[in-house]
Amino acid sequence: MQAIVLAAGKGTRMRSEHPKVLHEALGRPILDYALAILEELGIDQPLVVVGYSAEKVRSFLNTRGKESGTRPQAILQKEQRGTGHAVMMTRSRLLTKKQDVLIWPGDMPLLKKETLEAFIQKHRKSRSETSVLSSLRVNPAGYGRILRAGGRFFAIREELDATPVERRIQEVNTGVYLFRSDRLFQALEKIRPENQKGEFYLTDCIEILSKKNARLEAFPLASSQEGQGINSRADLAEVTKVMNQREVAKHMEQGVTFVSPEQTFVASGVKIGRDTVIYPWSYIESGVRIGRRCQIGPFAKLRKGTVIGDESIVGSFVEVNRSKLGRKVCVKHLAYLGDARVGDQANIGAGTITANFDGHAKQVTHIGKKALVGSNTVFVAPVTLEDHASTGAGAVVTRGTRVKTGEVVAGVPARVLKRKGK
Ligand code: UD1
Ligand code: MG
Repeated sequence: MQAIVLAAGKGTRMRSEHPKVLHEALGRPILDYALAILEELGIDQPLVVVGYSAEKVRSFLNTRGKESGTRPQAILQKEQRGTGHAVMMTRSRLLTKKQDVLIWPGDMPLLKKETLEAFIQKHRKSRSETSVLSSLRVNPAGYGRILRAGGRFFAIREELDATPVERRIQEVNTGVYLFRSDRLFQALEKIRPENQKGEFYLTDCIEILSKKNARLEAFPLASSQEGQGINSRADLAEVTKVMNQREVAKHMEQGVTFVSPEQTFVASGVKIGRDTVIYPWSYIESGVRIGRRCQIGPFAKLRKGTVIGDESIVGSFVEVNRSKLGRKVCVKHLAYLGDARVGDQANIGAGTITANFDGHAKQVTHIGKKALVGSNTVFVAPVTLEDHASTGAGAVVTRGTRVKTGEVVAGVPARVLKRKGK
């Protein structure tokens, strides 16, 4: 089976400079979701039709290809003359042999792999020649309507071209189809841009095939949510919300407490250990790993590359970026840890900042085990605070400093304090 992903549209309703498919939902471009699932289905060289901002989309595909080992093939649609026209661009790649072609709009990232598998299975079992994945929507506005006569599916009518009676139909087209390549291109030759938008509609193929008595099926989704397309910023927000709910639900099933799931942002690919409690308004980016029995937030921001050991506390207004925290680390209030390595049981006072960027590169701050960092300490990285060392409140530990085990530094710039009798 081969797959075509439609990603050439501008996404006019987004009112954006960026192509729609590269807008991010929960930290990943919308297009990435379709590609990831196709990859799981074993389709690792899908044809991706690009057009608007083709270079940007191409470069995303290239980078992604390098990271995942799959090679999506970009196919240029110079002018965006409709979904049917977009599919026509793939003709030379697909006509060489008869095969099943799965078509997926690049703007529908909530569809699950299992759903797609079930759709493919129904298509094969029913011996349908062309199948459409439909969806029942309370508010079908904006979608193409599924037309049936005596239960038999025979056409899709776009909203702008529909009669008032047709507009009341609640079964809509999700934009996911299975065609046989030869029949698809025969039908595409016959479509005409004679509609309100003046575009070549892929959806017109259905009526053409129906007139040839082909066996057509529209299989409704069990959950209409998965069929949600993204056409506007409001759609993007809604989809992002659903993705977030899915992620949070997964973690809750694994034994993580979310005090207020709706107020917590968790990207995909995050690991959280059992009995950790996440307080509201926390923002956790992709790839972050959090141990068991930790407390995170409220208002914590954990960015990519961050690992937090068991039983640590990352409290309110703390941002942690590309940093590794050991076990039982306590960074409770108002701090920024960037490129830091923090040993077990270190205590980081309120207001501590790692100044990790020297204007050219990111520098590392090492904080040893059981170190005690006074409030408002600034670490001008690279610096090292060895195990059991301490800083006084307001210390500025300058670049290149190494505070030895057990030593205390204080002041601006920070100097070693000699205690009486020591
Ligand atoms: C389309 C369907 C509609 C369906 C809906 C589901 C058609 C005519 N209509 O409408 O029946 O209910 O999706 O979301 O197909 N694209 C191109 N080249 C183009 C035009 C579009 O690649 O020339 C791509 C877009 O980037 C997008 C996808 O095709 O990823 C769908 O296009 P869009 O404009 O969003 O179609 P809808 O109006 O949503
Ligand atoms: Mg759409």
